[in-house]
Amino acid sequence: MTALHRSKNPTDEPLVLGFETSCDETGVGIVRGNTLLADAVASSVDEHARFGGVVPEVASRAHLEAMVPTVQRALSEAGVTLADIDAIAVTAGPGLAGALLVGAAAAKGYALALDKPIYGVNHLAAHICVDQLEHGPLPEGCVAMLVSGGHSSLLFVPDVTGDVQPLGQTIDDAAGEAFDKVARVLGLGFPGGPLIDKAARDGDPDAIAFPRGLTGPRDAPLDFSFSGLKTSVARWVEKRERAGEKVPIADVAASFQEAVVDVLTRKAILACKERGADHLLIGGGVAANSRLRVLAEERAAKAGIRVRVPRPGLCTDNGAMVAALGSELVRRGRTPSELDFPADSSQPVVEVIAR
Ligand code: KG4
Ligand code: ZN
Repeated sequence: MTALHRSKNPTDEPLVLGFETSCDETGVGIVRGNTLLADAVASSVDEHARFGGVVPEVASRAHLEAMVPTVQRALSEAGVTLADIDAIAVTAGPGLAGALLVGAAAAKGYALALDKPIYGVNHLAAHICVDQLEHGPLPEGCVAMLVSGGHSSLLFVPDVTGDVQPLGQTIDDAAGEAFDKVARVLGLGFPGGPLIDKAARDGDPDAIAFPRGLTGPRDAPLDFSFSGLKTSVARWVEKRERAGEKVPIADVAASFQEAVVDVLTRKAILACKERGADHLLIGGGVAANSRLRVLAEERAAKAGIRVRVPRPGLCTDNGAMVAALGSELVRRGRTPSELDFPADSSQPVVEVIAR
């Protein structure tokens, strides 16, 4: 907790309870101002592992079962009671429809019972805002790169509570999805990101020249594509297997990972330069990738840009990020959502608060 940003007079600031259920993590976080008090997460990832991907119905059921125990765990971790809560925030979208509904229904129930304001918030804005818990207030006009199993976007963020502008995004697979699919091809398991990250440590990133998607002169400079890369890895591995040769797992993992992080960091730095931003914020599950963190630092330093990346536990989905955004919305005096706001599986990134 020592590295967390602390306000001068924390007890003056509102206590916010945040809920996250957009995918397979049931997250309940509690913050006061920018101080993280609790971050309880129950994951159903093991239940999805044998399917090689998240099964929406299984995730929804798991959220339902985990919700109340996770709230209780967060309250006891923070040393507060429900009566102390000043405001509630919940991911309204984007995400899996059924999974989002469970979180929204639970959060609305708590808001109604406690007679407190509720903010239905955008999951992507929450991924950005969480960094405030660790590194203090966000600089005005930073570029954010969000890379996870469900999204890969570059955003310009003049104001995380109301002005988030899309600069580019993936036209096919998300970066994390590519990690998961390549891990499956290599027989490493699910979720693939951390397993590829680990396998790549013993491999040569230059062993195989895998393609860098959308980096040609006529390609959209800030969009991503990972589907061709994934197919290219699968073909490379199949060819070795058909020839009865051993697949060099570590080299394939390292070369694939290098192809992804090379493109991500190159485009993120370009976005910063185009927008005149001197801060790059990286969030989402793939931001936990060790090579991405190193290469982003290296390239940003050369361009005079500062990188902000939350610690890995705050990069993957959690309730603290939702509470962090809720807290910022309260601090800026933004109008809360109506109690009947919808859970929106395709909530656009420009819509920070659901109405
Ligand atoms: O943000 P997140 O927890 O959930 C989504 O909103 O998708 O991200 C999960 C994704 C998965 O695809 C996982 O494989 C990937 O993040 N991931 C990683 C690493 N840790 C998690 N990818 C690359 N390297 C990692 N170390
Ligand atoms: Zn996410």
